[in-house]
Amino acid sequence: MHSIRFRLSVLYIVVVTLILAISGAYSQYQLSKELEQRFDQLRHGVVTRLQISLPSALWDLDEAKVNSIIEAEMLPVEVRGIRVFDSAVSLFAGKMRDEQGKIVTVKPQLKIDGLPYESNLYFRSNVERGNDDATQRALVGKAVVYFSREKIDATLTAELIRKLIEVVVVDCVLLFALILSLRLVFDPLARLRDALFDLARHDSDEVEELQEERRDEFGDVIRGFNSIQRKVKSVIERRRQAEEEARSAEEEARQATRKAESALEELKEAQESLLQSEKLASLGGLVAGVAHEINTPVGVTLTSASVLKQASEQIRAVMASGQIKKSEINAYIDTADESARLIMTNADRAAHLIQSFKQIAADQTSEIRRQFDLKQYIEEVITSLHPKIKHTHVTVHVLCEQRIEIDGYPGAFAQVITNLIINALTHAFPDEREGRINIHADLMTDWVEVRFEDDGVGIPQEFQARIFDPFFTTRRGQGGTGLGLNIVYNIITKQFGGTIHARSEVGKGTAFILRFPLTAPEGNSNSIGLPRV
Ligand SMILES: Nc1ncnc2c1ncn2[C@@H]1O[C@H](COP(=O)(O)OP(=O)(O)O)[C@@H](O)[C@H]1O
Ligand SMILES: [Mg+2]
Repeated sequence: MHSIRFRLSVLYIVVVTLILAISGAYSQYQLSKELEQRFDQLRHGVVTRLQISLPSALWDLDEAKVNSIIEAEMLPVEVRGIRVFDSAVSLFAGKMRDEQGKIVTVKPQLKIDGLPYESNLYFRSNVERGNDDATQRALVGKAVVYFSREKIDATLTAELIRKLIEVVVVDCVLLFALILSLRLVFDPLARLRDALFDLARHDSDEVEELQEERRDEFGDVIRGFNSIQRKVKSVIERRRQAEEEARSAEEEARQATRKAESALEELKEAQESLLQSEKLASLGGLVAGVAHEINTPVGVTLTSASVLKQASEQIRAVMASGQIKKSEINAYIDTADESARLIMTNADRAAHLIQSFKQIAADQTSEIRRQFDLKQYIEEVITSLHPKIKHTHVTVHVLCEQRIEIDGYPGAFAQVITNLIINALTHAFPDEREGRINIHADLMTDWVEVRFEDDGVGIPQEFQARIFDPFFTTRRGQGGTGLGLNIVYNIITKQFGGTIHARSEVGKGTAFILRFPLTAPEGNSNSIGLPRV
C-alpha cells in the first residue's frame, strides 16, 4: 500500500521537476539562440572589419600593418586564428592561439582548430575617382578566420548543469518542506487512526481521549472524535448496565423459579401425605367395619357355645342323679343341634367376612393387580362400609346383570367405590335425609360403564367444573379435604385408563359415570398419588 504521504510527495516532485525541466529547456533554447546570434554577430564583425582594413595593407604589402590588424581582431577568445593569403594564394601572414591562449604567428603547416570562414579581400582603387563605376575592385587576397564554438558549448553545458543542480536543489527543498508539512497533517491523522483502531478493538474504558490543545482544523476533528468516543462510552456503559440488570433479573427469576419449584415440591409432599392420611383413614374405617361386622357372628357363636356348655352341664348333672328322662335327652340334643348349627353358620360367616376384609385390606395396601368380579367386589366393599351406611337412611343397590370380570387394581377400585359412597352419604344426603344410591354396572364389548347415582341434593352448576380439582371442597373445616374426587379421577383415568364424568341437577341428584376397559393398561399401578392439576 502506498500511503497518501508517499503519493503526494511523488506527485509534487514530478510536477515541480516537469515545470523546472520545461522552463529550463526553454531558457536553454533561448540562451543557445542568443549565443548563436552573438557568435554570428562576432563572426560577421570580424570578417567585415578584416574585409575593410586588410585590403589596403595587403595592397601595400605592409606585413606589419597586416599583423597588427590581425592581432587586434584576435582579441575575442572565440577567434582561434586568422590566416591571410595574397592573391597568389600563398600565406602572407597569420596568427593563432597556442595551448596557453597566447597569440603566436602561424606556421604554414600548423593546423588551427575551429570552424574556418573564408572571405575574399577586394581592394577598391581610388585612382579612377571620376569614374562612377563603384564596383570596380581588385581581388588582393583571402582571409580565413577560425572561430571556436568552445565557449558557446561550455556556456551551454554550464547552464545545463546549473539548471540540473537547481532542479535537484529545488526538489530536495520541496521534499523537505513536504515532509515537514505532511507531517503536520498526517501525524495527527495517524494518532486519530490509532485511537480509532483502539476504540474498535478495546472497550471504550481502556482507550484514552486525545488531547484537545490544538486550535486548528485537526483540533476540531479531535474534539469531534472525543465526543464520539464519549458517546460510544456512554452507549457501552448503558448496554453494560442493561446487561447487568438483565442478569440480575434473570438471577431473580431463577431464584423465584427455584422457590416456586421447592414450594411445588413441598405442596406435592403435603398432597402425598394428605393422600396417605386419606388412605389410612379409609383403612381405619375398614378396620372399624371389620370389627363391627365380625362382632355379630362371633357374638352369636359365643352365645351358642355358652348355651351348649350350659345345656351339657345340666344334662351331665341329671345323668349323674340317674333320673334322666328321654324327653330331657331329646331337648338337649335339640339344643346341641341348634347351637352347633348357629356356631357353624356364624363361624362360617365370620370366616367369610374376615376373608373378604382381608382381601380388601390387602388390596388397599398393596396395589396388586389381579382379576376380580366387579359386582361381587362392589358388594364386598359395600359390606365393609356397612357400619357407616347403617347409621343413615340411605339404601345402596348394586344393579348388574352380567358377570363382569375386570383385570385391574381392586384396591384402587375399592377406594373409588368407598369415596363415591362416602361422598354421597356426606354431601348428597345431609341431615339424616332419606335416599337411595344405585350402582349400575354394564358391560359394553371390551369396556365397562359404572354409574353411581344418588337422588340427593345435587351439585350447584358453578361447582361442577371444579369438583375433581384437588382441595376443592364445600365442607372445609367439617372434615372435607377436597381430595376424594381427585383420587377417584386419577385412579379411573390413569390406573384404569378410563374416563369419569359427573352429571348433576340441584334437588334431583348426582350421577358419576365411569367408563374403563376390562383390562387396565400396563405399568400404572402407582400413579394415584399424583393428583390431577
Ligand atoms: N354425591 C354428591 N352430591 C353432592 N355433592 C357432592 C357429591 N360428591 C361430591 N360432591 C361435592 O364435591 C366436593 C368435592 O368432593 P371431594 O373431592 O370428595 O371432597 P370432600 O368430600 O373432602 O369435600 C364436595 O365438597 C361436595 O361439594
Ligand atoms: Mg370426599
